[in-house]
Order: sequence, then structure tokens, then C-alpha cells
Amino acid sequence: MITWGRELGDIYLIWVGMRPFIFLYKAEAIQPLLSSSVHIDKSLEYEYLRPWLGSGLVTSTGEKWHFRRKLLTPTFHSGLLEIYLKTTIREAQILVSCLSKEVGKPEFDIVPYAKRATLDIICDSSMGCNINAQKNFENEYVSAVNTLASISQRRFLDVWMSFDLIFKLTTWGKRHDHALGVTHEFINKIIAERKAEWKAKKSGNFYERPQKRQALLDLLLELSKDGKVLTDDDIRDEVNTFMFAGHDTTATSVSWILYALGRHPQYQQINLVRRMHKRILETLSGNTAHRQTDLSSYYNFINIFILGHKIPIGSTVLVNSFLLHRDARYFSEPDSYRPERFLPDGPRYPSYAFIPFSAGSRNCIGWKYATMIVKVLILHVVKNFQVESLDTEDQLRFISELVLHNADGLRLKISPRKQGILV
Ligand code: HEM
Repeated sequence: MITWGRELGDIYLIWVGMRPFIFLYKAEAIQPLLSSSVHIDKSLEYEYLRPWLGSGLVTSTGEKWHFRRKLLTPTFHSGLLEIYLKTTIREAQILVSCLSKEVGKPEFDIVPYAKRATLDIICDSSMGCNINAQKNFENEYVSAVNTLASISQRRFLDVWMSFDLIFKLTTWGKRHDHALGVTHEFINKIIAERKAEWKAKKSGNFYERPQKRQALLDLLLELSKDGKVLTDDDIRDEVNTFMFAGHDTTATSVSWILYALGRHPQYQQINLVRRMHKRILETLSGNTAHRQTDLSSYYNFINIFILGHKIPIGSTVLVNSFLLHRDARYFSEPDSYRPERFLPDGPRYPSYAFIPFSAGSRNCIGWKYATMIVKVLILHVVKNFQVESLDTEDQLRFISELVLHNADGLRLKISPRKQGILV
């Protein structure tokens, strides 16, 4: 895709069978799309997620999506984030203790560690239950979530696996269905238990929160009005959606950031880590300004025009954020790791030039929460360990699934910080 981008220009179309795919990777090109409140449908590929996520927020569209998005937007208000912060710190400390077993070893893959930590964090905020994935690797639900995330993502890339009939007959299909059964059973049981808890304690008014549980599931039960607004299946879809959207993404961010820091030890110097700590405290107390300038005006047509081209109805449009985020017009030496690009007093970028959480009406609903998780986990790791990455950039083999993976995981080596344990 990178080569095509260079050879074919700022917008290009590739036919895959009967389907036109249009690729975009310039801020000006994606602005009309992402700022539209009409073109919000996800592509056919998202259907692979539907057995697991049903019509939760990631996969739904139209009125259903609008209604749910409005309903769920308050889920991440700052009061709740403060509560989630406590869990995140607790899990970050567990991560540090798990990682300390890797000290002195020649190498290890950070990705599974990051995934287990974020699964524990998201599970707690989504369902209010502690699955203890960091210590209990064999947990059936944890393996099921990993299987579903990885198989659903691979289906995006494999043409044969896109046909349900073929997929069902393959080992992938069978593993997927087994994992689906485990996940649904786990969540149904938790929903049933939580509902029973509510009913037992309702003491006159069912809609009064019986105790101070603050997980997404509790909010959904509250909003469900006993099945009138949200059914049990709706609730399950949203819980699954948050589990999926929340854990792999944050784990991948943490893993890549540690990889980058491991390649650039100058950013691990203790004075920088202290600055990072201070900055994170400021951010968490809400003391930050969002620094972006707007590119231009509004684009809200039914027919959408991108870089002067009318986009045919029914096209699938892909935003290549890997290339978008390496636009040399805004990011000088775009392939170099330079986190100072994002310092609060650093340069300003146009609105759509840097969109790790997407942008517009279908942006990431959990971006604040995600940022908090990633910062807390990274800070705990770098305050305790000196991190070294074993693979150079040209040894990496990217796999573009829903999130960007390296084919062989991310190999790190860690040693205790000379200054001792600080967190
Ligand atoms: C670093 C971590 C994360 C990144 C990079 C990220 C990125 C994104 C992106 C790019 C989208 C748009 C997807 C699309 O267009 O199909 C999205 C949507 C979404 N994200 Fe995140 N996300 C992260 C963490 C989270 C967390 C922690 C949660 C919740 C616990 C979450 C919940 C969602 C949901 C529900 C949507 C769908 C929103 C909608 O369509 O209305 N994400 N995220």
C-alpha cells in the first residue's frame, strides 16, 4: 500500500473483484469523509466482527448507531475515568511485577504481557469483574477473546476466509465458533448475575443503583429500563464491543511505544521520565489544551467529493493512517521517532493530519480512557525498567490487521533502572 501510494498518487482506486476500493492518505482527502455525518457506514468487512459484536457501537449504523452513541457518550465522563484510573494503576503495578520475571533474560515478546494487562483493565471497566488475566494465563475467556480478535482480524485479509461457508469448515472457523460460545456464555452469566443483584437490592426502585459499581455493564443495565430501551442481547453486544475495541488497541499502542523507546534510549533518560510523569499528572487532572487548527469548512453532501473526484455510491473507502501520519508536509523526517513533535508547545497540525483515534462523528468514543491507560502503563514500565528493542526497523514485518502488528511480536530486553524502583 505504501508503494501504491507513492506510485498512484493522493487518491487511487483498486478493484477487488466487483468492488471498488478507494485509498486515501492525505488530510485534505479524508476531511470530507470523516467530517460527514451522512457517510458513516462501515464497510462489508466489518461483518466478520458481527457474530461477536452484534450491532454494538463499532459495527452498527444509521439510527441505531446514533441512538447508542448518544446513550453511551457519557460512559467516559471524568468522574468515571478517575475510578478507572485506580484500576489502571493497580494493573500497571501487576504488569511491572510480571515483567520483572523477564529481567536478565536475553529477550521476550512484550505483546502478550500488554494484552493481558489491558484485558484486565478493560474487563474491570466494562463488566466490573476481575478476570486476573495477567496472572491466570489459562483463563478460558481470555483465550477466547484473543482467538476472536485475531481470527476476525485475519478474515479482513484472506479472500477465502471471507466466504462464511468456507470459513465455517476450516480450523479457523471452528476455533472461532468455539471461542464465540465461551465468550457469550461468560458475558451472559455476568449479565444475569448482575441483574439478579440489582433485583435483590432494588428496595422499591429498580432504577436506583443498588451499590457503587461503575462498570459499563452497570450503566447499560441502568439505561436499559428493564429491557425496554436495551435488551440483554444489546447489552452483551456493547460489552463485547468495548472489550474488543478497548484491549487490543491499547495493548498494541503500549507495545509499539515500548518498542520505539527501546530503539531510542535517549527518551528513557530519568529527567525525561520525570517530565513524562509530571505531564501525565497534569493531563489526568484535565489541565490540557487541545491544540489543533481547522483545515477548512464543511462537507456534508450525499454525493461526496474528494480531491475534486465524485466518489461513486457504494465504494469502500480506506483511510491509510500509516501514510497519513507520515506526511512530510507536517512531520519532518516522518520515519524518525520524535515524540517532541507532540509536546504542548510544539507545532500545530491541521485537524485531520494526525488521527490515531479517527475523527468526526465515528471517532473513538474511548480515546480519553485509552490515552490514560497507555500513559499509565508506559510510565510504570519505563520508571522501573530500562528497555531495549532487539529488532531494527527494517527487520519488522508489518501485518495490517485492524491494528498494526509485527509478524513476530515485539522483542524487548529489560533491565532494572539503576536509580531503583520508582513507582
Ligand atoms: C490506543 C487505543 C485506541 C485506539 C488507537 C483506538 C482507535 C479507534 C479508531 C481508529 C476508531 C474508529 C474505528 C472505525 O472507523 O471503524 C475507534 C472506534 C471506537 N473505539 Fe477506539 N481506540 C482505542 C481504544 C479504545 C478504548 C479503550 C475503547 C473503550 C473501552 C474504545 C472504544 C471504541 C468504540 C466503541 C469505537 C466505535 C465508535 C463509534 O463508531 O461510534 N477504543 N477507536
